[in-house]
Amino acid sequence: MNIGVLTGGGDCPGLNAAIRAVTKRGIDEYGYNILGIKNGWDGLVEGNVAPLTLYSVSGILPKGGTILGTSRRNPLKNREDWHKVLDNIRKFELDVIVAIGGEDTLGVALKLYDEGVNVVGIPKTIDNDLQGTDYTFGFDTALYIATEAIDRIHTTAESHHRVMVVEVMGRHTGWIAVMSGIAGGADCILIPEVPFSIEEIVKIILGRKKRGKTFSIVVVAEGAKPKEIKELVTRSNKVDEFGHIYLGGIADVLGKELEKRTNMETRVTILGHIQRGGTPTPFDRILATRFGVKAVDMIKEKQFGKMAALIGSSITTSPIEEAVKEPKKVPVELYEIAKVFFR
Ligand code: F6P
Repeated sequence: MNIGVLTGGGDCPGLNAAIRAVTKRGIDEYGYNILGIKNGWDGLVEGNVAPLTLYSVSGILPKGGTILGTSRRNPLKNREDWHKVLDNIRKFELDVIVAIGGEDTLGVALKLYDEGVNVVGIPKTIDNDLQGTDYTFGFDTALYIATEAIDRIHTTAESHHRVMVVEVMGRHTGWIAVMSGIAGGADCILIPEVPFSIEEIVKIILGRKKRGKTFSIVVVAEGAKPKEIKELVTRSNKVDEFGHIYLGGIADVLGKELEKRTNMETRVTILGHIQRGGTPTPFDRILATRFGVKAVDMIKEKQFGKMAALIGSSITTSPIEEAVKEPKKVPVELYEIAKVFFR
């Protein structure tokens, strides 16, 4: 059996742990041939495929990024690319495609499955916005990085008696914001799922000041926007091949408004891609490893069109169709917990 493995979409720590697990489980347990498809779906359009061996995955577990490379190439954008993908699957005699990715990557895998190609998914994204699994790997590391950053922002905020606005990633959900905000003791957390106004934030900040708290930490998700601002704040009006706009910069807009209305010195930190870099946390290393082993066992059991999933503490499977239907949003109960401390 020839198993093609690819990593698509935004990279994250843990991808190499997953690649290592698929390769070792596949070769050692079932004697499969494992082929690495380079740079996500681009590799299948261009025919950029090379064998993965026990040697090539040795020592990559703690390494950030992906040894295969990734891209946001969308082969569904034109028929010629799509036919190249199908031709290359035949040319390299790939019996199964293991797609490690988020909604975009797994959405393409689902289309291949509809065309009769055997696919297995592994859910990956720092956004944690995939249905069908409690967690995606990459999220815990981004959460750790963001929390560590908020801890550091705390000491400088307190020293200068400032309002500090910290912007985190998460695309159109607020998982990183709400969890790192709770973990980092933020005084206000703003996420796309819950409408808010700048006036409400000002009230929290001035209320704290009245009680002698001369600094405040506001954590804002890149996809959030207050009622007073009409459009999402973006870096440019370009979109990627899956139609996603480039979010980023809401913190700058918010920071200016808050400084004006509270008359307190305000500074802004946008964490950006450091949330996607470096070595994975132990949780992500273990989750990515468990997903990788499960994905190969799913091949043995001919469980195609599904992805490995974490439900509670168990590794199981979920239909890819479910996972990509719509983003998994932050539940209001979790946000209510965060709100206990907005004062
Ligand atoms: O999906 C992961 C993610 O980091 C989002 O949180 C973010 O909006 C986007 O990718 C950034 O994409 P790029 O790396 O292409 O700029």
